[in-house]
Formats: sequence, structure tokens, C-alpha cells
Amino acid sequence: MFLSIMNGTFLWISMAVPLLFDLKDEKYTCPTQALKFVTEIKLLWDKLVGLTTDGVPAMCGKKSGLVGMVREKMREENCAGELTVYHCIIHQEALCAKALKMEHVMTTVTQVVNFIRAKGLNHRQFKSFLEECGSEYADVPYHTEVRWLSRGKVLNRCFELREEICQFLETKGKDTAELREQKFLCELAFLCDISSHLDALNLQLQGRGRIITDMYAAVRAFKTKLCLWENQMLQGNPCHFPCCQSIKAQISTAVFPCAQFAEKLSVLAAEFSRRFADFDAQKCKFELLSNPFAVDVENAPTNIQMELIELQCNDTLKSKYDDAVGAAQFPRFIPDTMPQLRTQAAQMLSMFGSTYLCEQLFSSMKMTKTTYRRRLTDEHLRSILRISSAQSLSPDIDELASKKRCQVSGLGTSD
Ligand SMILES: *[C@@H]1O[C@H](CO)[C@@H](O)[C@H](O)[C@H]1NC(C)=O
Repeated sequence: MFLSIMNGTFLWISMAVPLLFDLKDEKYTCPTQALKFVTEIKLLWDKLVGLTTDGVPAMCGKKSGLVGMVREKMREENCAGELTVYHCIIHQEALCAKALKMEHVMTTVTQVVNFIRAKGLNHRQFKSFLEECGSEYADVPYHTEVRWLSRGKVLNRCFELREEICQFLETKGKDTAELREQKFLCELAFLCDISSHLDALNLQLQGRGRIITDMYAAVRAFKTKLCLWENQMLQGNPCHFPCCQSIKAQISTAVFPCAQFAEKLSVLAAEFSRRFADFDAQKCKFELLSNPFAVDVENAPTNIQMELIELQCNDTLKSKYDDAVGAAQFPRFIPDTMPQLRTQAAQMLSMFGSTYLCEQLFSSMKMTKTTYRRRLTDEHLRSILRISSAQSLSPDIDELASKKRCQVSGLGTSD
């Protein structure tokens, strides 16, 4: 569980199921534990503005899920504020990809990869290929559906090596009729291309210091791209789909199922719209953070309208905004005379758009707790996780060095 606290005022909780496991013996603990923790460290419930989860039942169940419990708790504590609940953007994106309904292609590819892995380990041509595949498949996935995406790289290598793969399978007496079918090759090409595009979006969404407005902008850009791709595909011009282009050049144009793929792109766009409807509803609030000078005052909430006009007419602030590096920095310059705007900005900045930090911490923990480190103590593990999860923790070298000096001189005198 990650807590984000802005100016000691607002609180946002990000939580993914892996972190409901007890760090020590990986025992599942229930969401009640998380609630207890918030109370224990004396955080005030009425400061909580939001919750980001990975959307599984343990989180979202009406009664026993974390979200339900938090709402109940806030009611008990008579909290006036509204709780915003988000489903992690990255998970949402991955679930969108399922709308393509192309698991059958992935299944065939997986079988081929597994066969090559079993029989072709020493085959020079496949060595680097398998290394790449290995890294994609090795980890035991907690969210198989989510990890589905990072297979884009494997798909692309399969596509590049398709001729070599067929030849290899044939020398081993395998039937390659399906792999050589034009219909299959077209589908493989399409899945490769769209997976690469989704992977690229995924990379944009991951990483440290992503604020929610940036993530939302990336998703919006992707939706716009989908529309463009759909139209181009309908016109038989998959110019942003390199694998499709290369297959299309090989087979007769009539065979390439443009209409069918355009339909898939349209379904994907619809799925994005549906899944990100929560975010669209918050569009106004996001704009207030990402570009307060462009917000239409009349449509803004009444409690901030006066301050917003003052902000927009203040040239000093405008030039600060233009110079400041991005939306994340600007709120620092909003003067005390505009308390409502400051509050809004702090709330927005405290949001976690994804449960990325949770998952990343969980992987560091798994990597640290390997079988090679049997003597790892709880204390040690906690320190390692603290360092690996800190956004900006730098050692105070002077302090450390001065402590060391003391010890050395201390030793000197005792000699
Ligand atoms: C504009 O904002 C600056 C910085 O907060 C402030 O010092 C100044 O008084 C404001 N100007 C006007 C005209 O309100």
C-alpha cells in the first residue's frame, strides 16, 4: 500500500493485491489490516480523497472489499469529503487489449515458442530469440491478463523469424500448415503491430513521477490514434502498422482483411472509452491542474471561479507557469491568496493513477527474497524496500563520513 500525502493535507491510497500479502511469510492479509494501519499512524480519515486499486474483488467487493470498507469507515467518522476511486490506469489498458479477441493467435505463438524452447535450445538462430522470450515468460505472473501485453516483443520476433521457425519445425516433423496460412499470418501481423502500440502506451504510463494528468493525456492521445488507424485501415492503408504492410505486400491485396481489422480497432477504441469513462468525468479537474490558464471559468466549480479569474489575469503567474517545468511544478507558485486553487491542485497531485509503485515494490521484494539469501532478516528486508521505493532518498555523505571519523578516532584513543 502506498500513501501519498500532499502538504500534509491530502491523502491518496494506492493498493494492489500483491501488497495484501504479508511481507514476511507471504501470507494473505485482509483489507481490514490496511484500514488498521491508516488509523495506527494517525492519519485523518477526512483527509482521504481517493483510492487507486487493481480492481480485483478483494479491493472492489461491495462489502468486504477495501473500497467498501473505506467508504464505511469514512461514514462512521462523519467525513464530508467525497472519495474518488480509480481502477489502475495500467490494468485498465491491459484489459482493453483483451477486447481484440485474438487469444487464439497468442496461443499458437506460445505453443511454438515452447516447442522451440524444448527442442531448439542450442540452435544458433533461436538463441537470442529464446533469451528474449525467456525474460517475458519466466516470471510467474500475478496478473496473467496484464502481463499479456509485454508479449509484444515476443510476437514481433516470431513474426520476423516466421520463415526460419517454419523451417525448423518442419525439420522436427511438425505440421506447419496453420503457421503458413495467409489468414493466420495476417492476424499475427496485426497482433504484432497493435501489441507494439499498446506496449508503447504502457511504457508511457509506467515509471516514477507520472502525475495523473500526464497519464490521462497519454490515454487520450491513444484513443485519437485509434480513430486515425481505423480510418486508414478501412482505406486499405495500414501505414502505422509495419508488419501488416509487409504481409500485405506479400499476398494479394484482396486477401488482407482490412475491414475486419478496422472493426477490431473500433472495438478497441470503444473499450478504451468505456473503461476510461471515470477519467473523462474528471476532465475539468484535470485541466485545472494541467493548464489552469486555458480553463473556461464559466464551467469551473463556483467555489474556485473568483480565484481562477485572478490567476488567469495575473501576468506574473502566467510567465511563471510558462517557465515552470510542467503541471507538477506550477502549484508551488499559486499564492496563498488563492486557497481553493491550492487545495484543488494538492488533491490532484496526490492522486495515484496506477498501482505501479505497489507492483514495482513487490517485484523488488521478490528479487531480494531469493533462495540465495536465506539469512535475510525482516529488518534488512524493510531497509532494502525502503531504499528501493524512496522517490528521492540520497545519502547524507557528510553525516555518514563524520560518524565514521568519530568511530576511527574513538578506536584510536582506546588503543
Ligand atoms: C500576481 O501574483 C503575484 C505572485 O503571487 C503577486 O505577488 C501579485 O500581487 C499578483 N498581482 C496582482 C495584480 O494581483
